[in-house]
Amino acid sequence: MTAAEALRDAARRLGAAGCTTPELDAEVLLGHVAGWDRAARMARRRDALDENLRQCFEALVERRLAREPIAHLVGTKEFFSLALAVDARVLVPRPETERLVEVALELVLALPERDRGPCIVDVGTGSGAIALALEAELVRRCRPARIVALDLSREARAVARHNLRRHQSRISLLGADLLAPLRPASVDLIVANPPYLSDEDLAAAPPELAFEPMLALAGGKPGGMGVIDRLLGSAREALVPAGWLCFEIGAGQGEAALERMCGGGFGRGRLVQDLAGRDRIVVCCRGED
Ligand SMILES: C[S@@+](CC[C@H](N)C(=O)[O-])C[C@H]1O[C@@H](n2cnc3c(N)ncnc32)[C@H](O)[C@@H]1O
Repeated sequence: MTAAEALRDAARRLGAAGCTTPELDAEVLLGHVAGWDRAARMARRRDALDENLRQCFEALVERRLAREPIAHLVGTKEFFSLALAVDARVLVPRPETERLVEVALELVLALPERDRGPCIVDVGTGSGAIALALEAELVRRCRPARIVALDLSREARAVARHNLRRHQSRISLLGADLLAPLRPASVDLIVANPPYLSDEDLAAAPPELAFEPMLALAGGKPGGMGVIDRLLGSAREALVPAGWLCFEIGAGQGEAALERMCGGGFGRGRLVQDLAGRDRIVVCCRGED
């Protein structure tokens, strides 16, 4: 069987199983087992697949047919041009969260420059994606910063630790329920992609989500905003006066999030939209007492 035939057969089955990008999925999986980059995948379509390669490919196709995320199958996900190890212990970083990194970066760059740089905290760091992307961008701009990454999940922290080492990071990684270990008025910027899915969202979610940790997905009542409510409750105390909080929300949670921020004593609140015009990020300032 040639590579092209194996790809065609796999794509047909993946499409029938409901995968939305079956051709691409098949190509990525074959490229992964064969060690082929994109150019090799194109150039070697007429090559005969040896039996060992064919079996390894088939094993991954079977797992994809059960709708396991591609990132789990290849063990890595690119986020903000960083290759991150991912598996079932963490959320697979989403492309939309790159916008949150951009927004957080704008806020950090607008802070007055100080010797040690600002203190930035990534709450619910998962794979370490947001913290690592911010660190890479700030290093590139020669802007010092102290970055702390927090996560309640020991399993997620093990993945984050691996990624931090892989990228020779100086980020401090701590186990914590939200902002619990932080001193009051010590943080310049809190950034978070908290779990925010409601029970209804989870019930309607694609099968791939069943392979990701529930702690990373379920926001809790009301309407998926339980963790966000707790975050808003503790963020004001952790922030310095005029410190910033920015976090991702689900499409449709914008108005509710803004209301909560005003009620929680935050100011200068605004929503940032994704490319489809949906509110996906909340930005607010602690303000002076
Ligand atoms: C939506 S995932 C985000 C992961 C990563 N920041 C990203 O954007 O890819 C949410 C993360 O928050 C963590 N988490 C959930 N509840 C938490 C809590 N109460 N305190 C700290 N972390 C929590 C989960 O373990 C998970 O890693």
